[in-house]
Amino acid sequence: MTTSTSDVERSDVERKAVLDSAEDMARLDPGGMLKIVSDLPQQIRDALGIAGRADFPASLAGARCIVSAGLGGSAIGGDVVRELVADELKVPMVVVRDYDLPAFVDRDTLVFVSSYSGNTEETLSAYGIARERGARMVCITSGGRLAELATRDGVPLVTIPQGFPPRTALGYLFVPMLVALARLGYVRDAAEGFEEAELILRDLAVVLGPESPTSVNQAKRLALAMHGKIPLIYGSSGITGAAALRWKTQINENSKTHAFWNAFPELNHNETVGWGAGEDISKALRVVLLKDKGDHPRVQRRMEITATLMGGAAGIDEVYSLGRSKVARLLSLVYVGDFASLYLAFLYGVDPKPVKVIDYLKNELARS
Ligand code: PA5
Repeated sequence: MTTSTSDVERSDVERKAVLDSAEDMARLDPGGMLKIVSDLPQQIRDALGIAGRADFPASLAGARCIVSAGLGGSAIGGDVVRELVADELKVPMVVVRDYDLPAFVDRDTLVFVSSYSGNTEETLSAYGIARERGARMVCITSGGRLAELATRDGVPLVTIPQGFPPRTALGYLFVPMLVALARLGYVRDAAEGFEEAELILRDLAVVLGPESPTSVNQAKRLALAMHGKIPLIYGSSGITGAAALRWKTQINENSKTHAFWNAFPELNHNETVGWGAGEDISKALRVVLLKDKGDHPRVQRRMEITATLMGGAAGIDEVYSLGRSKVARLLSLVYVGDFASLYLAFLYGVDPKPVKVIDYLKNELARS
């Protein structure tokens, strides 16, 4: 999907008007993505109910490593969980986005296989390999071939509701994984964090939602700032890194435009040098820094110094996480990005819901 020159050249005032017009946004959002995104707090509550009723047999406990296998919108749940449990999980956790699984995967590995549709070929391949290696497994899906295989093979299956674009089912995809890890004794129960997250997201749904005017709406203002630019979303290793990846992919899929992400401190050892490219190149970029109180003190200092080096950029925005628990802090950052990506879609005049390019690729591959 391309953006017409007239779209890009529209004045700020006209663009802002789209984001303050309920009619314009309704016209640009026939699939109701604003409603689906707004409903994340309720989705998390529903997901807790689904996970609470799921059977995670005791044989899944005591694995020596954990793998989350999935792609795209079904993979990010693994990143979210890995960062949420990083400071208490005593065994390594790896997120695999591929056909193959690493050689270490064996019967002492717990593998979560996640595919919203249940039909993603890479994920089905990973399922087959995990089965062959005798890994302990849990499948998370709304149906498709993955549900059939898990049922046939007697693999524990968490069935989540159908009818969502995969990327909007983040709650359904990550909550069961986190609940399983807690119930099986790998990590503490995150119930308190979920309660806090729900309260914070419900408040944010109002201040970031479509009825909140641009003048006071952080997500709409971020969308205006990113419009016509290539967003670079910077987090740090930890929860803001997972959030930065989520922002990037949501901007790609919802706003149908380029976006990239990176994380401190690593980006200070390579990407920062690229800012020497000069203003002509840098002005095509817009940086969003995702910040969290849990950021390492040296990373906080790195962010300050790096901001001064990016002076030639079109601008830098900072987004702070909210809350005490890691769940709330991570989801609050994700939520701002989800809304901002929808508003950016509206500024480009595109429908955020369909991802025709991904559908085309899947269809072409299925034919060959
Ligand atoms: O958001 C999307 O539609 C994609 O990123 C999908 O999640 C990805 O193609 C994998 O499909 P699924 O989530 O159905 O396994």
